[in-house]
Amino acid sequence: MESQVIRIEGSDWQAVQGNDAWRAALEAGKVLFFPSLGFELQPEERPLLRPDVRDPGARNISLNVDGSLKGAAGDAATQALLAGMIGRFRQQALGLVDALLPHYTSALRMAPTSYRPMQVESRQQSWRADDRRLHVDAFPSRPNYGERILRVFANVNSDGVPRVWRVGEPFETVARTFLPKAKPYSAWQAKVLQARHVTKSFRSEYDHLMLQLHDGMKRDMAYQQSSPQETVPFPAGSVWVCFSDQATHAVMSGQYMLEQTLHLPADHAYDKEASPLAILTRLTGRQLV
Ligand code: SIN
Ligand code: FE
Repeated sequence: MESQVIRIEGSDWQAVQGNDAWRAALEAGKVLFFPSLGFELQPEERPLLRPDVRDPGARNISLNVDGSLKGAAGDAATQALLAGMIGRFRQQALGLVDALLPHYTSALRMAPTSYRPMQVESRQQSWRADDRRLHVDAFPSRPNYGERILRVFANVNSDGVPRVWRVGEPFETVARTFLPKAKPYSAWQAKVLQARHVTKSFRSEYDHLMLQLHDGMKRDMAYQQSSPQETVPFPAGSVWVCFSDQATHAVMSGQYMLEQTLHLPADHAYDKEASPLAILTRLTGRQLV
């Protein structure tokens, strides 16, 4: 399999300028990897590299779009430092996306920015929640009707520990493998889920199929082990960007990462035929949203 990771040199956030080849790669589900584009911590932020800055009841620490902080433990000074660090990363991530993908800027909808201080390899989770298994991102409670999930990640580990991912097959190959095994969509069931507030809005057939791909991949141990994939150690002090609803990924190990999610309307890509919605629509021959 051709590598699904595109390496982009350069250590200056201000100097990054997008081009058609990188945009096409990203929209084809590849990962843009900037090995030397580190997110610098201020000296006073270094003590934030501790797992117990997180409230034990929360999965991550996140800075909401309105600037409020969620999931943090610690006193007011610690919380202010956290908000400052995460907010600065948000600005750098937004600047990077603007430089790479200027056509997206006006259409992007910002989601919270997260700080993940937990060690990946010691987390215990059910198979469905276990991101150490290859998957594409799809969320059971939040239907998105094909809206894209663009993510910017930064490994901020200060002991040189890489964040190790596996990156798998292109989305269309995954869809061709798992669509035939997908449970059929039921609009009636989707209505029940909505009425019971299991979903925040009506689950479309697109959202149903994305969950079927997510679950189908994660529950299939033979696929996990033997499908075409590459192991990618993202070094401490590097950044990477991908559409996580399209790039097949798993996180195997690492600790201390910042992450920015941005949503893009399905029809706002450079290449409108490359999105998961376009691919699933073509493969099923049906309107899915
Ligand atoms: C994921 O989106 O599956 C998790 C990525 C990570 O924590 O590195
Ligand atoms: Fe994921």
